[in-house]
Formats: sequence, C-alpha cells, structure tokens
Amino acid sequence: MSKIRVLSGMRPTGPLHLGHLHGVLKNWLELQEKYECFYFIADWHALTTEYENPENISEFSKELFLEWLSVGLSPQKSTLFIQSAIKEHAELHLLFSMFIPVPWLERNPSYKEMLQNIQNKDLNTYGFLGYPVLQAADILIYKAQKVPVGVDQVPHLELTREIARRFNFLYRVNYFPEPEPILSEVSKIPGIDGRKMSKSYGNAIFLNDLPEVVKEKVMNYVTDIQRIKKSDPGDPENRCVAFNLIKLYYSNEEIKEIIRDCKNAVLGCVECKKRLADKIISELEKIWDKRLEMEKEDWKEMLYKGVETAREIAHQTVEEVNIIIFRKKLI
Ligand code: TRP
Repeated sequence: MSKIRVLSGMRPTGPLHLGHLHGVLKNWLELQEKYECFYFIADWHALTTEYENPENISEFSKELFLEWLSVGLSPQKSTLFIQSAIKEHAELHLLFSMFIPVPWLERNPSYKEMLQNIQNKDLNTYGFLGYPVLQAADILIYKAQKVPVGVDQVPHLELTREIARRFNFLYRVNYFPEPEPILSEVSKIPGIDGRKMSKSYGNAIFLNDLPEVVKEKVMNYVTDIQRIKKSDPGDPENRCVAFNLIKLYYSNEEIKEIIRDCKNAVLGCVECKKRLADKIISELEKIWDKRLEMEKEDWKEMLYKGVETAREIAHQTVEEVNIIIFRKKLI
C-alpha cells in the first residue's frame, strides 16, 4: 500500500508569526511523519495580489523556506519546492481554464469578499479570478488526496473537486481523484488585540522577533478587563485574550493551576504574562538555533532536490492530460 499523498502551499507574502506556527506548520510537521507530503511556496499565487510590487516575493520565498526548515520540515521526509520552478502547474492551469465556467469563479465567496475588502489594489484581473484554478492545478497535478488548509480555503477545495469531476466527465476518464481537506483543529490564534493574529492587523508575534520584542508584545496582550487590581478575581476562560495563548503553551495540569490562581486572585496578570513570555521565547529559541544552523547549510540544494522530485510527477501528469484531451500526440 502506498502512502496517502498530502499537499499544501503557502503564499510568500511576509514573515511568519505564531498563528502560522500553531495553526499551520505544527499540523504539517505531524503529517510529514505519516504521509507522503508535498509542501510548496506558492509564489505565483502571491503575484496575483502583489503584481504591482513583486520585488519582495523572492526574498519572502527564501525566508519562508528557511523558516520551514527551522521549524522542522525536512527535505528527507517531505518534498519541499517552489511553484514557479515547475512550469507544468501553469500548463495544467491553462488546460483547466478552457473548460471552467467563469460563473463558478465569480460566485466563489472568498473571491467576492477579497474584491470588496481590498481597496488599495486593483484585483479585477484575469489572474486573480483564476486564483482557484491555479490552486486546483497545484493539487491535481500531484493527484493529492488530502489537503491541509484553514476553513477559509474550503471553497477553493470544493472548486478543485468540481474541476476534477468536470475533467473526468468531459473526457470520459476516471483520472483525477477528488481531494479532501484536512481542517486544522487549532482555532484562530488571537493577536495582541484579540482579533485573529495577522500581519495586516499589526497584532502579530513573528517567529523572527527579538526576545525583548516578544516579551513586550506578550505584556501588551489584553487580559480580563474587569480585573483591575490583582486582588480582583479573574475569569480567564471567558474574559482573557492571553488565556487562548496560554492554552497552547501549558500542559492541562498547569492550565488548571493558572485558572485556579487567577480565579482566586493570587496570580496577577503581569506575573502570568511574564511566565508566558518566557515559555514562548524558550520554544522560539529552538527555532532560532535551527535557523542559524540552516543558514550555514546548502538550502538552495535542498530546494532544488524538492523541485526535481515534484517536477517529475508534474511532468508525467501533464503528458497524460494532453494525451487524454487530444487523444493522440501530434509531435
Ligand atoms: N490559497 C492558499 C492560501 O492562501 C495557498 C495555496 C496555493 C494552496 N495553492 C495551494 C493551499 C494548494 C493548498 C493547496 O493559503
């Protein structure tokens, strides 16, 4: 029995933060132990929104790759690669674009939402409308069965399944499997202000923040606003933003103690957040150490290796798809 194939991608649009670490990467790390995993840097997808200012994409891509290695994604266990190095993704995207009805793309909820919410960029482009078609090509070109993503990506995955079905129907084949999402369980990691952690909200703790910056940010987390003095009893489970972060960093036993001490007004918020900051920093230290190690390694070679493995499969799929569509090969 061959292993189940898993695939996911990340857009290189800026530095990684704790939301990525707990919401995405830890999930990927677990999966790489059990499945055949393909993880890639979706730089063409970044270009759909950054086409006016693309100069940072390659630096962000390098950063992303180094951060992946630093958190423990391993080229020995997973195939790690960059999308734009494999032109076959673009070819499959083109072939899919021939039969995907435009209304399927226009009614996509995340498309409509982004068009409305992003005012400072002109996203009325062909490429942006076709974003999920490219994503479908990314997934189907490797015939991935499972795709770990956040809930926001579910409509894109549904569209991928529809494209697979439509291809199989039009050309009377049973060629593309329909991939299933693996939804990450960790609920939204809160930022300093209690909203979802995000670079654009300015509320994120980045993996490459200096220790003193991490500390300062943790100290700025909103706690129980009804608890003015330490002697006021707190209600961490219902009123404290920092508590959602605490839950990620402590054992169940420790969490129980924190709840008890907060409710009994013996543990103050300042002390509690200081300890949390130390916990976060000591976890990040391992990542920082690995990062220094990885910078000395030939990381480019590691990326090439992944590209080669991925390209071989992608190439084969596109060959087969051309034969299925055109029935015979002309040249
Ligand atoms: N759209 C995804 C995101 O923004 C990134 C992505 C591109 C992706 N291609 C993919 C994710 C294929 C999973 C599978 O997060």
